[in-house]
Amino acid sequence: MAARLVVVTGGKAGPGATTLAVGLAGAWAAAGRRVLLVDLDPAGGDVAAHISVGEIRGRGVAAVLAAGAGRVEPRGVAAEAVEVAAGLRVLIGLPRADAAGLLRPHVGVAVTEAARQVDGVDLVVVDGGRLLPGSVAQAVLALPSAVGVLAARADVPGALAAQRALLVAAEATATPLALVAVGVRRTSGDVAELAAALEHPVNGVVPAWRRQLGRAIQTGQLPTGGRLGRAYRSLAAGLWPPDDSEPARRAAGGRHARRGGQAPAEQEREAASA
Ligand SMILES: Nc1ncnc2c1ncn2[C@@H]1O[C@H](COP(=O)(O)OP(=O)(O)OP(=O)(O)O)[C@@H](O)[C@H]1O
Ligand SMILES: [Mg+2]
Repeated sequence: MAARLVVVTGGKAGPGATTLAVGLAGAWAAAGRRVLLVDLDPAGGDVAAHISVGEIRGRGVAAVLAAGAGRVEPRGVAAEAVEVAAGLRVLIGLPRADAAGLLRPHVGVAVTEAARQVDGVDLVVVDGGRLLPGSVAQAVLALPSAVGVLAARADVPGALAAQRALLVAAEATATPLALVAVGVRRTSGDVAELAAALEHPVNGVVPAWRRQLGRAIQTGQLPTGGRLGRAYRSLAAGLWPPDDSEPARRAAGGRHARRGGQAPAEQEREAASA
């Protein structure tokens, strides 16, 4: 059976989609899922800058495309995926923005579908890059079972960028995206303003964690440990239950019954200590 699919994306101006994709992938892996994080940002992949993956030149998506001569096979993806933690493999992205021509939307879809067929993977998390018209992110989001997560900065330019991205998403899928407010300082004000501006519920919150995230990126460590890790796990569990089996649902006590799960205020309490 094909692995489930979460597509993390953002609007213009780098709202924090890659950081969110890495945090969520790490959190779902820590929760027992077998995750493959796939960097499909055609503007150059940033995932490799967040996680220590060893030698990256000519590896990852670029190598899969070069080896397949137009065909993308699950075993090609599996060969290029690097295990970075228990339950977490990563397919790194294109090295440079000028390689974008390699990764057209239909190619992004082919890589995603191949990733979903890799043995031992039950959840594919795609960093889709920016959600623009005709983008890779839009094409992958249009896949029938895709669950979209949109990172949005909780300020006025961020809301404008997210508004445009939501319009692009609406052309791709009828399934509402989960909206995550990133870089939040005052939950009550910022989050309510973002939800009102977008006429869309805010399904999760990532506080302003510049120092902690900077340290995680500098060391190439996944943000799975300590308070940052706990906060991402709480966000991941609230956003979407990666395991909807009966025991998991019972363990969650019905909290996942509603889309968006944990209320932002609840998450904020968890995250405040991060
Ligand atoms: N919660 C946060 N708090 C503070 N800074 C953050 C947070 N999340 C991300 N950032 C910072 O914002 C910047 C952009 O983050 P990131 O690369 O994840 O954005 P992006 O949406 O993937 O951008 P792009 O569209 O260019 O790929 C980085 O410097 C990152 O460290
Ligand atoms: Mg990015």
